[in-house]
Amino acid sequence: MTPFIFFDVPYKLFRKNIPNLTYVVARKFLGRIKAFCSPEHALKIVNLYQENIPFKGKTILEIGPGNDISTAILMIMQGAERVYLVDKISDFTDKGHNNEIEFIRAFQHKMMEEALIDEYPPQLVSDKICFVDCYFTDSNPLFEALGGVKVDCIVSHQVLEHIDNLDEAFKNMRTILKQGGLMFHEIDFSDHTMHIFSKYSFLSFLNQNHSLAHLYYSDSLWRACNDTVRLNMNRNILPDYFMRFKRYGFTITRLFRTEVKRKQKIHSDILFRIADDKLKNDDNLQLSSVSIQAKLDR
Ligand SMILES: C[S@@+](CC[C@H](N)C(=O)[O-])C[C@H]1O[C@@H](n2cnc3c(N)ncnc32)[C@H](O)[C@@H]1O
Repeated sequence: MTPFIFFDVPYKLFRKNIPNLTYVVARKFLGRIKAFCSPEHALKIVNLYQENIPFKGKTILEIGPGNDISTAILMIMQGAERVYLVDKISDFTDKGHNNEIEFIRAFQHKMMEEALIDEYPPQLVSDKICFVDCYFTDSNPLFEALGGVKVDCIVSHQVLEHIDNLDEAFKNMRTILKQGGLMFHEIDFSDHTMHIFSKYSFLSFLNQNHSLAHLYYSDSLWRACNDTVRLNMNRNILPDYFMRFKRYGFTITRLFRTEVKRKQKIHSDILFRIADDKLKNDDNLQLSSVSIQAKLDR
Protein backbone atom coordinates (compact mmCIF):
# COMPACT_ATOMS: atom_id res chain seq x y z
CA MET A 1 0.00 0.00 0.00
CA THR A 2 1.28 3.40 -0.87
CA PRO A 3 2.87 5.18 2.10
CA PHE A 4 1.10 8.31 0.91
CA ILE A 5 -2.14 6.93 2.31
CA PHE A 6 -1.07 8.46 5.62
CA PHE A 7 -1.31 11.82 3.98
CA ASP A 8 -4.34 11.06 1.79
CA VAL A 9 -6.82 10.42 4.57
CA PRO A 10 -6.09 13.61 6.53
CA TYR A 11 -6.06 15.47 3.21
CA LYS A 12 -9.51 14.16 2.39
CA LEU A 13 -10.86 14.98 5.87
CA PHE A 14 -9.34 18.40 6.36
CA ARG A 15 -8.88 19.70 2.82
CA LYS A 16 -11.15 22.64 3.33
CA ASN A 17 -9.12 23.79 6.32
CA ILE A 18 -5.62 23.13 5.07
CA PRO A 19 -3.59 26.31 5.55
CA ASN A 20 -2.17 27.77 2.34
CA LEU A 21 1.45 27.08 3.16
CA THR A 22 0.69 23.44 4.00
CA TYR A 23 -1.10 23.05 0.69
CA VAL A 24 1.87 24.40 -1.31
CA VAL A 25 4.36 22.23 0.57
CA ALA A 26 2.15 19.15 0.34
CA ARG A 27 1.71 19.54 -3.40
CA LYS A 28 5.41 20.08 -3.94
CA PHE A 29 6.62 17.14 -1.88
CA LEU A 30 3.74 14.66 -1.68
CA GLY A 31 1.85 15.37 -4.87
CA ARG A 32 1.49 12.47 -7.27
CA ILE A 33 0.53 12.97 -10.87
CA LYS A 34 -2.66 11.36 -11.99
CA ALA A 35 -1.66 9.21 -14.94
CA PHE A 36 -2.77 5.97 -16.48
CA CYS A 37 -1.23 4.22 -19.40
CA SER A 38 -2.36 0.83 -20.60
CA PRO A 39 -3.90 -0.67 -23.74
CA GLU A 40 -7.20 -0.96 -21.87
CA HIS A 41 -7.07 2.74 -20.99
CA ALA A 42 -6.46 3.58 -24.68
CA LEU A 43 -9.38 1.36 -25.69
CA LYS A 44 -11.64 3.12 -23.21
CA ILE A 45 -10.67 6.51 -24.65
CA VAL A 46 -11.17 5.40 -28.26
CA ASN A 47 -14.57 3.88 -27.50
CA LEU A 48 -15.58 7.18 -25.95
CA TYR A 49 -14.41 9.03 -29.07
CA GLN A 50 -16.21 6.59 -31.36
CA GLU A 51 -19.51 6.97 -29.47
CA ASN A 52 -19.36 10.71 -29.91
CA ILE A 53 -17.72 11.27 -33.28
CA PRO A 54 -18.13 8.26 -35.57
CA PHE A 55 -14.70 8.33 -37.22
CA LYS A 56 -14.92 5.54 -39.80
CA GLY A 57 -13.35 6.80 -43.04
CA LYS A 58 -12.47 10.13 -41.40
CA THR A 59 -9.27 12.08 -40.82
CA ILE A 60 -8.77 12.69 -37.09
CA LEU A 61 -6.46 14.95 -35.12
CA GLU A 62 -5.89 14.03 -31.47
CA ILE A 63 -4.49 16.71 -29.19
CA GLY A 64 -2.30 15.47 -26.33
CA PRO A 65 -2.23 11.67 -26.64
CA GLY A 66 0.85 11.63 -24.39
CA ASN A 67 3.97 9.69 -25.13
CA ASP A 68 1.94 7.01 -26.81
CA ILE A 69 0.40 5.99 -30.15
CA SER A 70 -2.06 3.45 -28.74
CA THR A 71 -5.17 5.56 -29.35
CA ALA A 72 -4.07 6.17 -32.96
CA ILE A 73 -3.54 2.44 -33.56
CA LEU A 74 -7.03 1.67 -32.26
CA MET A 75 -8.71 4.47 -34.21
CA ILE A 76 -7.13 3.25 -37.43
CA MET A 77 -8.09 -0.34 -36.68
CA GLN A 78 -11.64 0.88 -36.13
CA GLY A 79 -11.69 2.53 -39.56
CA ALA A 80 -10.14 6.01 -39.30
CA GLU A 81 -8.51 7.03 -42.59
CA ARG A 82 -5.62 8.95 -41.05
CA VAL A 83 -4.70 10.07 -37.52
CA TYR A 84 -2.57 13.09 -36.59
CA LEU A 85 -1.19 13.05 -33.03
CA VAL A 86 -0.12 16.41 -31.63
CA ASP A 87 1.94 16.40 -28.43
CA LYS A 88 5.53 16.85 -27.35
CA ILE A 89 6.56 13.26 -27.74
CA SER A 90 10.05 12.54 -26.52
CA ASP A 91 10.28 9.00 -27.84
CA PHE A 92 7.44 6.53 -27.61
CA THR A 93 9.82 3.69 -28.44
CA ASP A 94 11.24 4.03 -24.90
CA LYS A 95 8.73 1.40 -23.81
CA GLY A 96 11.13 -1.31 -24.90
CA HIS A 97 10.42 -1.27 -28.64
CA ASN A 98 12.96 -0.25 -31.26
CA ASN A 99 10.57 1.28 -33.73
CA GLU A 100 6.97 2.11 -34.48
CA ILE A 101 6.18 -1.17 -36.22
CA GLU A 102 7.47 -3.15 -33.23
CA PHE A 103 5.36 -1.04 -30.91
CA ILE A 104 2.24 -1.58 -33.06
CA ARG A 105 2.88 -5.32 -33.29
CA ALA A 106 3.35 -5.69 -29.52
CA PHE A 107 0.28 -3.58 -28.80
CA GLN A 108 -1.85 -5.60 -31.23
CA HIS A 109 -0.53 -8.86 -29.79
CA LYS A 110 -1.53 -7.86 -26.26
CA MET A 111 -4.99 -6.71 -27.36
CA MET A 112 -5.56 -9.86 -29.42
CA GLU A 113 -4.54 -12.08 -26.52
CA GLU A 114 -7.39 -10.52 -24.62
CA ALA A 115 -9.63 -10.79 -27.71
CA LEU A 116 -10.10 -7.02 -27.73
CA ILE A 117 -9.27 -6.46 -31.40
CA ASP A 118 -9.01 -8.28 -34.74
CA GLU A 119 -5.95 -8.56 -36.95
CA TYR A 120 -4.73 -5.56 -39.00
CA PRO A 121 -1.38 -5.27 -40.86
CA PRO A 122 1.01 -3.21 -38.67
CA GLN A 123 2.60 -1.46 -41.67
CA LEU A 124 -0.81 -0.24 -42.83
CA VAL A 125 -1.48 1.15 -39.34
CA SER A 126 1.90 2.86 -39.29
CA ASP A 127 1.33 4.45 -42.73
CA LYS A 128 -1.81 6.13 -41.44
CA ILE A 129 -0.29 7.66 -38.27
CA CYS A 130 1.30 11.08 -38.46
CA PHE A 131 3.13 12.60 -35.49
CA VAL A 132 3.31 16.29 -34.98
CA ASP A 133 5.94 16.68 -32.31
CA CYS A 134 4.97 20.01 -30.74
CA TYR A 135 2.20 21.43 -28.60
CA PHE A 136 -1.07 22.30 -30.30
CA THR A 137 -0.57 25.89 -29.18
CA ASP A 138 2.86 26.14 -30.87
CA SER A 139 1.23 27.49 -34.00
CA ASN A 140 4.24 27.89 -36.29
CA PRO A 141 5.63 24.33 -36.04
CA LEU A 142 2.07 22.96 -35.96
CA PHE A 143 1.01 24.55 -39.24
CA GLU A 144 4.35 23.81 -40.84
CA ALA A 145 3.97 20.12 -39.97
CA LEU A 146 0.35 19.93 -41.12
CA GLY A 147 1.09 21.75 -44.38
CA GLY A 148 -2.44 23.09 -44.85
CA VAL A 149 -4.23 19.82 -43.98
CA LYS A 150 -7.79 20.14 -42.69
CA VAL A 151 -9.30 17.29 -40.68
CA ASP A 152 -12.85 15.93 -40.22
CA CYS A 153 -12.63 15.55 -36.43
CA ILE A 154 -10.56 16.85 -33.52
CA VAL A 155 -10.47 14.93 -30.23
CA SER A 156 -8.77 15.20 -26.87
CA HIS A 157 -9.00 13.34 -23.59
CA GLN A 158 -8.04 15.13 -20.38
CA VAL A 159 -5.82 17.65 -22.17
CA LEU A 160 -7.61 21.01 -22.40
CA GLU A 161 -7.29 21.55 -18.65
CA HIS A 162 -3.49 21.57 -19.16
CA ILE A 163 -3.42 24.26 -21.83
CA ASP A 164 -2.78 27.80 -20.60
CA ASN A 165 -3.36 29.56 -23.89
CA LEU A 166 -6.87 28.28 -24.63
CA ASP A 167 -7.57 31.08 -27.10
CA GLU A 168 -4.66 29.96 -29.28
CA ALA A 169 -5.84 26.34 -29.00
CA PHE A 170 -9.41 27.18 -30.07
CA LYS A 171 -8.16 29.45 -32.87
CA ASN A 172 -6.04 26.58 -34.19
CA MET A 173 -8.94 24.11 -33.88
CA ARG A 174 -11.03 26.46 -35.97
CA THR A 175 -8.32 26.73 -38.63
CA ILE A 176 -7.62 23.00 -38.82
CA LEU A 177 -11.18 21.59 -38.66
CA LYS A 178 -13.18 21.37 -41.89
CA GLN A 179 -16.40 23.38 -42.03
CA GLY A 180 -19.13 21.30 -40.39
CA GLY A 181 -16.47 19.10 -38.73
CA LEU A 182 -16.95 17.59 -35.26
CA MET A 183 -14.90 17.85 -32.08
CA PHE A 184 -15.01 15.86 -28.87
CA HIS A 185 -13.14 16.85 -25.73
CA GLU A 186 -13.15 15.38 -22.24
CA ILE A 187 -12.05 17.84 -19.58
CA ASP A 188 -11.07 16.71 -16.10
CA PHE A 189 -11.64 19.20 -13.29
CA SER A 190 -9.87 17.27 -10.56
CA ASP A 191 -6.73 18.37 -8.78
CA HIS A 192 -4.41 16.11 -10.77
CA THR A 193 -1.38 16.34 -8.57
CA MET A 194 -3.20 15.42 -5.41
CA HIS A 195 -4.78 12.28 -6.72
CA ILE A 196 -4.84 9.12 -4.71
CA PHE A 197 -2.79 6.80 -6.80
CA SER A 198 -3.52 3.40 -5.41
CA LYS A 199 -4.28 0.10 -7.03
CA TYR A 200 -6.80 -0.58 -4.27
CA SER A 201 -10.24 0.25 -5.58
CA PHE A 202 -11.69 0.42 -2.07
CA LEU A 203 -9.66 3.61 -1.65
CA SER A 204 -11.30 5.31 -4.60
CA PHE A 205 -13.71 7.12 -2.27
CA LEU A 206 -10.72 9.22 -1.25
CA ASN A 207 -10.55 10.66 -4.74
CA GLN A 208 -13.88 12.35 -4.67
CA ASN A 209 -12.83 15.35 -2.71
CA HIS A 210 -10.03 16.05 -5.12
CA SER A 211 -12.40 17.34 -7.76
CA LEU A 212 -12.05 21.11 -8.00
CA ALA A 213 -9.70 21.13 -4.98
CA HIS A 214 -7.15 23.24 -6.86
CA LEU A 215 -9.80 25.91 -7.46
CA TYR A 216 -10.18 26.59 -3.77
CA TYR A 217 -7.07 28.77 -3.50
CA SER A 218 -6.14 32.20 -4.87
CA ASP A 219 -4.31 32.80 -8.16
CA SER A 220 -1.11 33.83 -6.37
CA LEU A 221 -1.10 30.71 -4.21
CA TRP A 222 -1.75 28.56 -7.26
CA ARG A 223 1.23 30.10 -9.06
CA ALA A 224 3.40 28.93 -6.16
CA CYS A 225 2.31 25.31 -6.41
CA ASN A 226 1.25 24.64 -10.00
CA ASP A 227 3.62 21.96 -11.25
CA THR A 228 4.42 23.50 -14.63
CA VAL A 229 7.34 21.15 -15.21
CA ARG A 230 5.61 17.81 -14.68
CA LEU A 231 2.02 18.66 -15.55
CA ASN A 232 0.85 22.24 -15.93
CA MET A 233 -2.80 22.85 -15.08
CA ASN A 234 -4.90 25.84 -15.93
CA ARG A 235 -7.76 26.71 -13.61
CA ASN A 236 -10.53 27.24 -16.11
CA ILE A 237 -14.04 26.20 -15.25
CA LEU A 238 -16.80 25.15 -17.62
CA PRO A 239 -18.03 28.70 -18.35
CA ASP A 240 -14.49 29.57 -19.59
CA TYR A 241 -14.79 26.75 -22.12
CA PHE A 242 -18.35 27.70 -23.11
CA MET A 243 -17.11 31.19 -23.92
CA ARG A 244 -14.33 29.85 -26.15
CA PHE A 245 -16.60 27.45 -28.06
CA LYS A 246 -18.90 30.36 -28.82
CA ARG A 247 -16.17 32.87 -29.58
CA TYR A 248 -14.49 30.59 -32.13
CA GLY A 249 -17.65 29.57 -33.97
CA PHE A 250 -18.41 26.14 -32.46
CA THR A 251 -21.88 24.97 -31.47
CA ILE A 252 -22.04 22.53 -28.56
CA THR A 253 -24.13 19.58 -29.73
CA ARG A 254 -23.79 17.24 -26.72
CA LEU A 255 -22.66 17.73 -23.16
CA PHE A 256 -22.10 15.10 -20.47
CA ARG A 257 -21.42 16.25 -16.94
CA THR A 258 -20.05 14.22 -14.05
CA GLU A 259 -20.98 16.10 -10.93
CA VAL A 260 -19.38 16.13 -7.52
CA LYS A 261 -21.64 15.21 -4.66
CA ARG A 262 -20.67 17.95 -2.30
CA LYS A 263 -20.45 21.58 -3.25
CA GLN A 264 -16.85 22.77 -3.49
CA LYS A 265 -15.87 26.35 -2.90
CA ILE A 266 -14.30 28.08 -5.90
CA HIS A 267 -12.06 31.07 -5.21
CA SER A 268 -13.39 34.47 -6.21
CA ASP A 269 -10.23 35.07 -8.32
CA ILE A 270 -11.65 32.45 -10.69
CA LEU A 271 -15.32 33.37 -10.53
CA PHE A 272 -14.44 37.03 -11.04
CA ARG A 273 -13.28 36.24 -14.59
CA ILE A 274 -16.71 34.97 -15.66
CA ALA A 275 -18.67 37.99 -16.79
CA ASP A 276 -21.96 36.18 -17.45
CA ASP A 277 -23.72 35.53 -14.12
CA LYS A 278 -26.02 32.93 -15.70
CA LEU A 279 -23.01 30.72 -16.30
CA LYS A 280 -22.04 30.80 -12.63
CA ASN A 281 -24.81 28.44 -11.56
CA ASP A 282 -23.99 25.31 -9.58
CA ASP A 283 -24.56 23.03 -12.58
CA ASN A 284 -21.54 24.58 -14.26
CA LEU A 285 -19.36 24.69 -11.18
CA GLN A 286 -19.88 21.41 -9.31
CA LEU A 287 -18.25 19.16 -11.89
CA SER A 288 -15.53 16.58 -11.69
CA SER A 289 -15.39 16.17 -15.45
CA VAL A 290 -17.23 17.07 -18.60
CA SER A 291 -17.37 15.70 -22.15
CA ILE A 292 -18.24 18.07 -24.94
CA GLN A 293 -19.18 17.32 -28.53
CA ALA A 294 -19.17 20.40 -30.76
CA LYS A 295 -19.58 21.27 -34.40
CA LEU A 296 -17.86 23.97 -36.42
CA ASP A 297 -20.58 26.15 -37.86
CA ARG A 298 -20.69 26.56 -41.61
C1 LIG B 1 -3.13 14.06 -18.51
S1 LIG B 1 -2.25 13.79 -20.01
C2 LIG B 1 -3.51 12.99 -20.98
C3 LIG B 1 -2.91 11.95 -21.91
C4 LIG B 1 -3.97 11.12 -22.65
N1 LIG B 1 -4.78 11.95 -23.51
C5 LIG B 1 -4.84 10.36 -21.67
O1 LIG B 1 -6.01 10.68 -21.51
O2 LIG B 1 -4.34 9.42 -21.05
C6 LIG B 1 -2.18 15.41 -20.69
C7 LIG B 1 -1.42 15.45 -22.00
O3 LIG B 1 -1.64 16.74 -22.59
C8 LIG B 1 -0.44 17.10 -23.23
N2 LIG B 1 -0.49 18.56 -23.47
C9 LIG B 1 -0.45 19.57 -22.58
N3 LIG B 1 -0.53 20.75 -23.22
C10 LIG B 1 -0.64 20.47 -24.54
C11 LIG B 1 -0.74 21.26 -25.73
N4 LIG B 1 -0.74 22.60 -25.66
N5 LIG B 1 -0.82 20.62 -26.91
C12 LIG B 1 -0.81 19.27 -26.99
N6 LIG B 1 -0.71 18.48 -25.91
C13 LIG B 1 -0.62 19.07 -24.70
C14 LIG B 1 0.66 16.66 -22.30
O4 LIG B 1 1.90 16.54 -22.96
C15 LIG B 1 0.08 15.30 -21.86
O5 LIG B 1 0.53 14.29 -22.74
